[in-house]
Amino acid sequence: MFAFQLLSALSSAALLVAATPAGRAHDHDTCSTAAAKMDLPANQTQLVSPTTDPLFVMLGVGVQNYTCILPEPLLHCSTISCLDTTPAFGVIQTLGFDFWKALPARVTADDLGAKIGPPLLLGFHYFVTSPSGTGLSPKWDFTSTGRFSRNSSAFVLGAKVGDITAPADPAVNIDWLALNNAEGSLASKIFRIDTVNGQPPHL
Ligand SMILES: *[C@@H]1O[C@H](CO)[C@@H](O)[C@H](O)[C@H]1NC(C)=O
Ligand SMILES: *[C@@H]1O[C@H](CO)[C@@H](O)[C@H](O)[C@H]1NC(C)=O
Ligand SMILES: *[C@@H]1O[C@H](CO)[C@@H](O)[C@H](O)[C@H]1NC(C)=O
Repeated sequence: MFAFQLLSALSSAALLVAATPAGRAHDHDTCSTAAAKMDLPANQTQLVSPTTDPLFVMLGVGVQNYTCILPEPLLHCSTISCLDTTPAFGVIQTLGFDFWKALPARVTADDLGAKIGPPLLLGFHYFVTSPSGTGLSPKWDFTSTGRFSRNSSAFVLGAKVGDITAPADPAVNIDWLALNNAEGSLASKIFRIDTVNGQPPHL
């Protein structure tokens, strides 16, 4: 299985978490992300950490069309926002990848997502035709899941603005990226970091 597994942070100047009604202690996608700092390599200028806290910190797994989830058997948490003060936060991408890799090949990321109801499943990540009409753009789509269910603007289409090779094992792990919002209102920036695998296999 040629699995992708990676960690993304969606950022915006508008903090949606501030608008969340109180009293939803078990709604794991509303944990504070204040302590979640991206571990960007020092010697690069492509990925610039925003000054605001991320709106979402999430784990994505899958093959090409991967799904933003935290598998429930791991830590009973939806997004990894809730882990940002625990030791698991530092290794969740490896745990997630190992979990995904151990599943039978016939289990797709969508199957996995379907087993994990909202709010554990934040949304889906896939590629669509770019707004220009040519090429593909990555889309993070929360419109059918969790607290954004049926909200047609809860997505973001990304335009890449920064790209570095993975700091560790770049032949295996795909590049770390910074993307700006090209469409949608979910977030203004997206960072794809802490990647595990994802490079095409050597045939
Ligand atoms: C940063 O990168 C530049 C160019 O590759 C290199 O000359 C420099 O030594 C690097 N600095 C550090 C601290 O790694
Ligand atoms: C990913 O899934 C979306 C939605 O189902 C689809 O439109 C798109 O063509 C898929 N992209 C790839 C690269 O498979
Ligand atoms: C829909 O989602 C967007 C974020 O993508 C948010 O800004 C907006 O307030 C939401 N609308 C409603 C009615 O909840």
